[in-house]
Amino acid sequence: MNQVIESLRVRVARKDQTALGITSFELVSADGVPLPAFEAGSHVDVAVPGGLTRQYSLCNDPSESHRYQIAVLNVPDGRGGSRAMHEAVHLGDVLVISKPRNHFPLANARGHSLLLAGGIGITPLLCMAERLAQMDRPFTLHYFARSAERAAFIGRIRASRFSAHAHFHFDEAPAAPPNLQALLVPAGADAHLYTCGPKGFMDAVLACARSGGWADDQLHQEYFSAEPVTMEGDGAFEVQLASSGRVVPIAADQTVIAALAAQGVHIETSCEQGVCGTCLTRVLGGEPDHRDVYLTAAEQASNDQFLPCCSRAKSGRLVLDL
Ligand code: FES
Repeated sequence: MNQVIESLRVRVARKDQTALGITSFELVSADGVPLPAFEAGSHVDVAVPGGLTRQYSLCNDPSESHRYQIAVLNVPDGRGGSRAMHEAVHLGDVLVISKPRNHFPLANARGHSLLLAGGIGITPLLCMAERLAQMDRPFTLHYFARSAERAAFIGRIRASRFSAHAHFHFDEAPAAPPNLQALLVPAGADAHLYTCGPKGFMDAVLACARSGGWADDQLHQEYFSAEPVTMEGDGAFEVQLASSGRVVPIAADQTVIAALAAQGVHIETSCEQGVCGTCLTRVLGGEPDHRDVYLTAAEQASNDQFLPCCSRAKSGRLVLDL
């Protein structure tokens, strides 16, 4: 569904290959008015040619109001969004995007910040590094990539005011960084760790951090995509709409979103894989079976909201605030 809420029209002012398989886009207002301000960690939804909507982190300095910059890794065997950005978006094109939203903010803490980027996961962390440097707060950026030629923004980082805080780890597969333990030594209760990259990389970082003594509220992550959800072995259940009392059956091979849409009840979606939070829905009764990577473990445990694009039910019925 190519639908972007609270939309802005932007023009592609630059399109550059910043690394092997990675293209950056500079987006300026199509109407000449200043763009809405954004914080480090923010992303925009982009209505991609072909009908898809994709989320991309803003990676320019958050004090800039004349442009947004995003970078897109081409995933040839993906679902088509990144390929369309690479092949069907050209200099001068006008795109519809959302206003910036931030699910990955910097904590309001003065302690050390540790930023761990895997591959294209550098984008939100680059913006965070700019902001931390501006605020003169202590931080270290570790950037893992398979090779220098596949790593975006190396020149920009080396030329930046924070270059002394940046460490590159090339020749190391981002899915399994070998020296994490040495990098993840906790730096006090006021320290915070931020990570973004492929799911395997982030899972390794977060597991290593937890086993090294980091508390959950010191860990911050943003997933770009989730493992494909298999419905094998899933059962049927029911969803009840609290406003009308109507009960909708969800077949074993159906998502809640699809079953509700078939009954004329439409919930806004974007990623459709439990990553972006667009379809977040309040749960008033029953126990969800959370399959997303968007909610924290504590939020999932409270069972009062779920992501119906991918999550299901452990109980026979869920009552939804719809
Ligand atoms: Fe993105 Fe459901 S549509 S989490």
